[in-house]
Amino acid sequence: MLQTENLNLELSVEDFVAFRDFIHEKSGIFFAENKKYLVENRLSKRMTTLGLKSFRDYFYQVKYDTSLKEFNMLMNLVTTNETSFYRNPPQLACFQQEVLPLIIEQKKQAGHGKRLKIWSAGCSTGEEPYTLGMILLEVLGERNDWNIEIIANDISENVLYSARTAAYSEMSLRTTPLHIVNKYFTREGEKYCVTDNVKRLVKYSHLNLADRRKMALMTDMDFVFCRNVMIYFSDDIKKQIVKGYYNSLRPGGYLYIGHAESLHGISKAFKLVYFKNGLVYFKETGAAAETDTPETTAAPVAVAVGAKSAFAAVASSAAQSARDVSGTSAATLDKLRKIQELLASTRK
Ligand SMILES: C[S@@+](CC[C@H](N)C(=O)[O-])C[C@H]1O[C@@H](n2cnc3c(N)ncnc32)[C@H](O)[C@@H]1O
Repeated sequence: MLQTENLNLELSVEDFVAFRDFIHEKSGIFFAENKKYLVENRLSKRMTTLGLKSFRDYFYQVKYDTSLKEFNMLMNLVTTNETSFYRNPPQLACFQQEVLPLIIEQKKQAGHGKRLKIWSAGCSTGEEPYTLGMILLEVLGERNDWNIEIIANDISENVLYSARTAAYSEMSLRTTPLHIVNKYFTREGEKYCVTDNVKRLVKYSHLNLADRRKMALMTDMDFVFCRNVMIYFSDDIKKQIVKGYYNSLRPGGYLYIGHAESLHGISKAFKLVYFKNGLVYFKETGAAAETDTPETTAAPVAVAVGAKSAFAAVASSAAQSARDVSGTSAATLDKLRKIQELLASTRK
Protein backbone atom coordinates (compact mmCIF):
# COMPACT_ATOMS: atom_id res chain seq x y z
CA MET A 1 0.00 0.00 0.00
CA LEU A 2 1.24 3.51 -0.73
CA GLN A 3 1.99 5.75 2.21
CA THR A 4 1.56 9.48 2.26
CA GLU A 5 2.87 10.49 5.70
CA ASN A 6 6.53 11.57 5.86
CA LEU A 7 8.63 8.93 7.59
CA ASN A 8 11.46 11.27 8.72
CA LEU A 9 14.09 9.06 7.13
CA GLU A 10 17.76 9.76 7.72
CA LEU A 11 20.36 9.16 5.05
CA SER A 12 23.59 7.65 6.46
CA VAL A 13 26.93 8.79 5.04
CA GLU A 14 27.43 5.31 3.58
CA ASP A 15 24.09 5.36 1.75
CA PHE A 16 24.69 8.94 0.61
CA VAL A 17 27.99 7.85 -0.96
CA ALA A 18 26.27 4.89 -2.66
CA PHE A 19 23.62 7.18 -4.20
CA ARG A 20 26.10 9.94 -5.01
CA ASP A 21 28.43 7.58 -6.90
CA PHE A 22 25.56 5.86 -8.70
CA ILE A 23 23.96 9.16 -9.79
CA HIS A 24 27.34 10.47 -10.91
CA GLU A 25 28.20 7.37 -12.90
CA LYS A 26 24.82 7.28 -14.64
CA SER A 27 24.11 10.97 -15.26
CA GLY A 28 27.24 12.99 -14.62
CA ILE A 29 25.47 14.96 -11.86
CA PHE A 30 27.72 15.23 -8.83
CA PHE A 31 26.59 15.99 -5.29
CA ALA A 32 29.30 17.26 -2.97
CA GLU A 33 29.08 16.24 0.68
CA ASN A 34 27.39 19.50 1.69
CA LYS A 35 24.44 18.47 -0.54
CA LYS A 36 23.64 15.38 1.56
CA TYR A 37 20.60 17.07 3.11
CA LEU A 38 19.27 17.87 -0.38
CA VAL A 39 19.59 14.24 -1.55
CA GLU A 40 17.99 13.06 1.70
CA ASN A 41 15.11 15.46 1.34
CA ARG A 42 14.34 14.74 -2.31
CA LEU A 43 14.66 10.96 -2.03
CA SER A 44 12.73 10.57 1.19
CA LYS A 45 9.61 12.05 -0.43
CA ARG A 46 9.69 9.34 -3.10
CA MET A 47 10.41 6.64 -0.52
CA THR A 48 7.43 7.78 1.52
CA THR A 49 5.26 7.35 -1.59
CA LEU A 50 6.69 3.87 -2.16
CA GLY A 51 6.34 2.92 1.51
CA LEU A 52 10.07 2.21 1.84
CA LYS A 53 11.73 2.68 5.23
CA SER A 54 15.37 2.25 4.29
CA PHE A 55 17.54 4.18 1.83
CA ARG A 56 19.44 0.94 1.10
CA ASP A 57 16.17 -0.70 -0.07
CA TYR A 58 15.48 2.26 -2.30
CA PHE A 59 19.04 2.17 -3.65
CA TYR A 60 18.67 -1.49 -4.68
CA GLN A 61 15.27 -0.80 -6.22
CA VAL A 62 16.74 1.94 -8.39
CA LYS A 63 19.89 0.03 -9.25
CA TYR A 64 18.29 -3.26 -10.23
CA ASP A 65 15.08 -2.01 -11.88
CA THR A 66 15.64 -3.16 -15.47
CA SER A 67 12.59 -1.21 -16.70
CA LEU A 68 14.46 2.01 -15.72
CA LYS A 69 11.18 3.37 -14.34
CA GLU A 70 12.63 4.04 -10.91
CA PHE A 71 15.87 5.36 -12.38
CA ASN A 72 13.85 7.88 -14.40
CA MET A 73 11.97 8.82 -11.24
CA LEU A 74 15.29 9.37 -9.50
CA MET A 75 16.42 11.65 -12.34
CA ASN A 76 13.24 13.70 -11.95
CA LEU A 77 14.14 14.09 -8.28
CA VAL A 78 17.83 14.95 -8.48
CA THR A 79 17.84 17.38 -11.39
CA THR A 80 17.53 21.14 -10.96
CA ASN A 81 15.23 22.48 -13.64
CA GLU A 82 15.31 26.25 -13.08
CA THR A 83 14.79 28.10 -16.40
CA SER A 84 12.80 30.88 -18.06
CA PHE A 85 12.06 32.37 -21.48
CA TYR A 86 14.70 34.80 -22.75
CA ARG A 87 17.06 33.77 -19.95
CA ASN A 88 20.17 35.93 -19.93
CA PRO A 89 19.10 38.53 -22.54
CA PRO A 90 22.61 39.77 -23.51
CA GLN A 91 23.62 36.25 -24.54
CA LEU A 92 20.49 35.93 -26.65
CA ALA A 93 21.03 39.40 -28.13
CA CYS A 94 24.48 38.15 -29.16
CA PHE A 95 22.83 35.17 -30.85
CA GLN A 96 20.02 37.17 -32.49
CA GLN A 97 21.92 40.26 -33.60
CA GLU A 98 25.41 38.98 -34.24
CA VAL A 99 26.01 35.25 -34.62
CA LEU A 100 22.79 34.04 -36.22
CA PRO A 101 22.81 36.70 -39.00
CA LEU A 102 26.40 35.72 -39.84
CA ILE A 103 25.55 32.05 -40.13
CA ILE A 104 22.48 32.83 -42.23
CA GLU A 105 24.53 34.99 -44.55
CA GLN A 106 27.28 32.38 -44.80
CA LYS A 107 24.75 29.72 -45.71
CA LYS A 108 23.14 31.91 -48.36
CA GLN A 109 26.55 32.66 -49.84
CA ALA A 110 27.68 29.06 -49.82
CA GLY A 111 24.46 27.98 -51.51
CA HIS A 112 24.36 24.79 -49.44
CA GLY A 113 20.66 25.05 -48.76
CA LYS A 114 18.66 27.04 -46.26
CA ARG A 115 18.92 24.75 -43.30
CA LEU A 116 19.55 25.45 -39.62
CA LYS A 117 20.06 22.79 -36.99
CA ILE A 118 20.15 23.80 -33.34
CA TRP A 119 20.50 21.64 -30.23
CA SER A 120 19.18 22.68 -26.84
CA ALA A 121 20.89 20.18 -24.53
CA GLY A 122 19.36 20.07 -21.06
CA CYS A 123 16.27 21.97 -22.21
CA SER A 124 14.29 21.59 -18.97
CA THR A 125 10.62 22.61 -19.39
CA GLY A 126 11.15 24.03 -22.89
CA GLU A 127 11.61 27.75 -22.32
CA GLU A 128 15.08 27.75 -23.93
CA PRO A 129 14.26 25.89 -27.19
CA TYR A 130 11.03 27.87 -27.64
CA THR A 131 12.95 31.10 -27.09
CA LEU A 132 15.38 30.03 -29.82
CA GLY A 133 12.42 29.28 -32.10
CA MET A 134 10.98 32.75 -31.47
CA ILE A 135 14.35 34.36 -32.21
CA LEU A 136 14.63 32.43 -35.49
CA LEU A 137 11.19 33.61 -36.56
CA GLU A 138 12.10 37.17 -35.58
CA VAL A 139 15.26 37.04 -37.71
CA LEU A 140 14.00 35.00 -40.68
CA GLY A 141 10.39 36.15 -40.67
CA GLU A 142 7.37 33.99 -39.92
CA ARG A 143 6.95 33.07 -43.58
CA ASN A 144 10.52 32.04 -44.29
CA ASP A 145 11.62 29.19 -46.55
CA TRP A 146 14.26 27.79 -44.18
CA ASN A 147 14.34 24.24 -42.91
CA ILE A 148 14.65 24.79 -39.15
CA GLU A 149 15.27 21.99 -36.70
CA ILE A 150 15.54 22.67 -32.98
CA ILE A 151 16.35 19.45 -31.17
CA ALA A 152 15.72 19.64 -27.45
CA ASN A 153 16.36 17.02 -24.84
CA ASP A 154 16.69 16.36 -21.17
CA ILE A 155 17.27 13.46 -18.79
CA SER A 156 14.09 14.19 -16.82
CA GLU A 157 10.86 12.82 -18.32
CA ASN A 158 8.82 15.18 -16.12
CA VAL A 159 10.29 18.32 -17.64
CA LEU A 160 9.92 16.93 -21.17
CA TYR A 161 6.23 16.35 -20.51
CA SER A 162 5.82 20.00 -19.45
CA ALA A 163 7.86 21.17 -22.44
CA ARG A 164 5.59 19.37 -24.88
CA THR A 165 2.53 20.82 -23.13
CA ALA A 166 3.98 24.32 -23.66
CA ALA A 167 1.71 26.13 -21.19
CA TYR A 168 3.48 28.46 -18.77
CA SER A 169 2.87 30.69 -15.79
CA GLU A 170 3.63 34.41 -15.90
CA MET A 171 6.77 33.74 -13.86
CA SER A 172 8.38 31.90 -16.80
CA LEU A 173 8.02 35.04 -18.93
CA ARG A 174 9.62 37.42 -16.46
CA THR A 175 12.47 38.45 -18.80
CA THR A 176 10.54 38.16 -22.06
CA PRO A 177 9.98 41.37 -24.08
CA LEU A 178 6.30 42.35 -24.19
CA HIS A 179 6.10 42.36 -28.00
CA ILE A 180 7.32 38.73 -27.96
CA VAL A 181 4.70 37.76 -25.36
CA ASN A 182 1.99 39.33 -27.52
CA LYS A 183 3.25 37.68 -30.69
CA TYR A 184 4.13 34.13 -29.65
CA PHE A 185 1.77 33.30 -26.77
CA THR A 186 -1.95 32.88 -26.42
CA ARG A 187 -3.74 33.12 -23.07
CA GLU A 188 -5.67 30.18 -21.68
CA GLY A 189 -6.88 31.21 -18.24
CA GLU A 190 -3.80 31.81 -16.11
CA LYS A 191 -1.52 30.09 -18.61
CA TYR A 192 0.54 31.48 -21.48
CA CYS A 193 0.61 28.94 -24.33
CA VAL A 194 3.28 28.92 -27.02
CA THR A 195 1.85 29.42 -30.51
CA ASP A 196 1.90 26.50 -32.98
CA ASN A 197 4.33 28.15 -35.42
CA VAL A 198 6.99 28.08 -32.67
CA LYS A 199 6.00 24.71 -31.22
CA ARG A 200 6.38 22.95 -34.55
CA LEU A 201 10.04 24.00 -34.82
CA VAL A 202 11.05 22.07 -31.69
CA LYS A 203 11.44 18.28 -31.42
CA TYR A 204 11.78 16.87 -27.91
CA SER A 205 13.36 13.60 -26.90
CA HIS A 206 14.86 11.98 -23.85
CA LEU A 207 18.65 12.00 -23.82
CA ASN A 208 21.22 11.45 -21.12
CA LEU A 209 24.23 13.63 -21.91
CA ALA A 210 26.46 11.10 -20.12
CA ASP A 211 25.50 8.47 -22.70
CA ARG A 212 28.33 8.60 -25.27
CA ARG A 213 26.51 6.36 -27.75
CA LYS A 214 23.44 8.63 -27.89
CA MET A 215 25.62 11.74 -28.00
CA ALA A 216 27.39 10.38 -31.08
CA LEU A 217 24.06 10.40 -32.94
CA MET A 218 23.76 14.17 -32.62
CA THR A 219 25.50 15.49 -35.70
CA ASP A 220 25.83 18.45 -38.05
CA MET A 221 24.66 21.12 -35.61
CA ASP A 222 25.03 24.82 -36.42
CA PHE A 223 24.55 25.72 -32.76
CA VAL A 224 24.62 23.87 -29.48
CA PHE A 225 23.06 25.54 -26.45
CA CYS A 226 23.99 23.89 -23.19
CA ARG A 227 23.41 26.65 -20.71
CA ASN A 228 23.34 26.11 -16.95
CA VAL A 229 23.56 22.33 -17.24
CA MET A 230 27.22 21.44 -16.80
CA ILE A 231 27.48 23.30 -13.49
CA TYR A 232 26.04 20.16 -11.90
CA PHE A 233 28.63 17.81 -13.45
CA SER A 234 32.08 16.70 -12.34
CA ASP A 235 35.03 17.89 -14.46
CA ASP A 236 35.56 14.41 -15.93
CA ILE A 237 32.01 14.25 -17.25
CA LYS A 238 32.18 17.88 -18.43
CA LYS A 239 35.24 16.98 -20.52
CA GLN A 240 33.48 13.99 -22.04
CA ILE A 241 30.31 15.96 -22.80
CA VAL A 242 32.10 18.99 -24.24
CA LYS A 243 33.98 16.62 -26.55
CA GLY A 244 30.57 15.29 -27.60
CA TYR A 245 29.35 18.84 -28.35
CA TYR A 246 32.47 19.53 -30.38
CA ASN A 247 31.89 16.46 -32.51
CA SER A 248 28.19 17.20 -32.88
CA LEU A 249 28.87 20.68 -34.31
CA ARG A 250 29.72 21.13 -37.94
CA PRO A 251 32.95 23.07 -38.54
CA GLY A 252 31.99 26.75 -38.28
CA GLY A 253 29.34 26.02 -35.63
CA TYR A 254 28.99 27.66 -32.21
CA LEU A 255 28.58 26.44 -28.63
CA TYR A 256 26.74 28.55 -26.07
CA ILE A 257 27.23 27.66 -22.41
CA GLY A 258 25.82 29.55 -19.40
CA HIS A 259 27.12 33.13 -19.12
CA ALA A 260 28.78 32.29 -15.78
CA GLU A 261 30.31 29.05 -17.07
CA SER A 262 33.66 28.47 -18.75
CA LEU A 263 35.53 25.74 -20.59
CA HIS A 264 38.76 26.68 -18.86
CA GLY A 265 40.48 23.43 -17.90
CA ILE A 266 37.79 21.45 -19.73
CA SER A 267 38.55 21.83 -23.43
CA LYS A 268 40.97 23.68 -25.66
CA ALA A 269 39.37 22.48 -28.87
CA PHE A 270 37.12 25.54 -29.27
CA LYS A 271 38.11 29.11 -29.97
CA LEU A 272 36.55 31.66 -27.67
CA VAL A 273 35.10 34.48 -29.76
CA TYR A 274 34.29 37.86 -28.19
CA PHE A 275 31.18 39.42 -29.65
CA LYS A 276 29.74 42.78 -28.64
CA ASN A 277 27.07 41.17 -26.46
CA GLY A 278 28.91 38.13 -25.18
CA LEU A 279 31.36 35.28 -25.59
CA VAL A 280 30.77 32.23 -27.72
CA TYR A 281 32.79 29.06 -28.34
CA PHE A 282 33.56 28.47 -32.00
CA LYS A 283 34.48 25.27 -33.85
CA GLU A 284 36.83 26.37 -36.54
CA THR A 285 36.25 25.66 -40.19
CA GLY A 286 38.33 22.70 -41.27
CA ALA A 287 38.52 21.35 -37.70
CA ALA A 288 38.78 17.61 -37.22
CA ALA A 289 36.78 15.47 -34.79
CA GLU A 290 37.93 15.38 -31.17
CA THR A 291 39.47 12.07 -30.19
CA ASP A 292 39.93 10.63 -26.74
CA THR A 293 43.30 12.24 -26.08
CA PRO A 294 43.71 13.73 -22.61
CA GLU A 295 42.87 17.41 -22.24
CA THR A 296 45.28 20.02 -21.02
CA THR A 297 44.14 22.79 -18.71
CA ALA A 298 45.19 25.62 -20.99
CA ALA A 299 42.68 28.42 -21.42
CA PRO A 300 41.06 28.74 -24.85
CA VAL A 301 42.57 31.33 -27.15
CA ALA A 302 40.58 34.51 -27.50
CA VAL A 303 40.06 35.36 -31.13
CA ALA A 304 39.36 39.06 -31.09
CA VAL A 305 37.72 41.72 -29.01
CA GLY A 306 35.04 44.37 -29.23
CA ALA A 307 34.61 45.17 -32.93
CA LYS A 308 31.28 45.57 -34.68
CA SER A 309 31.12 41.91 -35.49
CA ALA A 310 33.33 38.95 -34.76
CA PHE A 311 34.31 38.68 -38.38
CA ALA A 312 35.38 42.29 -38.52
CA ALA A 313 37.25 41.71 -35.29
CA VAL A 314 38.99 38.63 -36.62
CA ALA A 315 40.04 40.49 -39.74
CA SER A 316 41.27 43.67 -38.03
CA SER A 317 43.07 41.74 -35.32
CA ALA A 318 44.91 39.70 -37.89
CA ALA A 319 45.85 42.80 -39.88
CA GLN A 320 47.10 44.68 -36.82
CA SER A 321 49.16 42.00 -35.25
CA ALA A 322 50.32 40.50 -38.54
CA ARG A 323 49.92 37.12 -36.94
CA ASP A 324 47.03 34.76 -37.05
CA VAL A 325 45.93 34.46 -33.40
CA SER A 326 43.00 32.23 -34.21
CA GLY A 327 44.77 29.91 -36.57
CA THR A 328 42.41 31.13 -39.30
CA SER A 329 44.06 31.06 -42.72
CA ALA A 330 44.49 34.18 -44.87
CA ALA A 331 41.99 32.80 -47.39
CA THR A 332 39.39 32.28 -44.66
CA LEU A 333 39.99 35.78 -43.33
CA ASP A 334 39.51 37.14 -46.80
CA LYS A 335 36.22 35.27 -47.11
CA LEU A 336 35.13 36.56 -43.70
CA ARG A 337 35.97 40.09 -44.73
CA LYS A 338 33.85 39.71 -47.85
CA ILE A 339 30.92 38.41 -45.80
CA GLN A 340 31.36 41.38 -43.48
CA GLU A 341 31.24 43.80 -46.41
CA LEU A 342 28.20 42.05 -47.78
CA LEU A 343 26.45 42.28 -44.43
CA ALA A 344 27.26 45.98 -44.19
CA SER A 345 25.81 46.57 -47.65
CA THR A 346 22.59 44.68 -46.82
CA ARG A 347 22.14 46.87 -43.72
CA LYS A 348 22.33 50.11 -45.78
C1 LIG B 1 19.04 24.40 -14.78
S1 LIG B 1 18.30 23.54 -16.13
C2 LIG B 1 18.84 24.53 -17.49
C3 LIG B 1 17.74 24.75 -18.51
C4 LIG B 1 18.11 25.66 -19.68
N1 LIG B 1 19.21 25.12 -20.43
C5 LIG B 1 18.42 27.04 -19.20
O1 LIG B 1 19.58 27.48 -19.22
O2 LIG B 1 17.49 27.73 -18.80
C6 LIG B 1 19.36 22.09 -16.24
C7 LIG B 1 18.71 20.94 -16.98
O3 LIG B 1 19.71 19.96 -17.31
C8 LIG B 1 19.13 18.68 -17.21
N2 LIG B 1 20.16 17.64 -17.05
C9 LIG B 1 20.94 17.40 -15.97
N3 LIG B 1 21.73 16.34 -16.19
C10 LIG B 1 21.45 15.90 -17.45
C11 LIG B 1 21.95 14.83 -18.25
N4 LIG B 1 22.89 13.99 -17.81
N5 LIG B 1 21.43 14.66 -19.48
C12 LIG B 1 20.48 15.51 -19.96
N6 LIG B 1 19.97 16.53 -19.25
C13 LIG B 1 20.45 16.73 -18.00
C14 LIG B 1 18.21 18.80 -16.00
O4 LIG B 1 17.20 17.82 -15.98
C15 LIG B 1 17.67 20.22 -16.13
O5 LIG B 1 16.41 20.26 -16.73
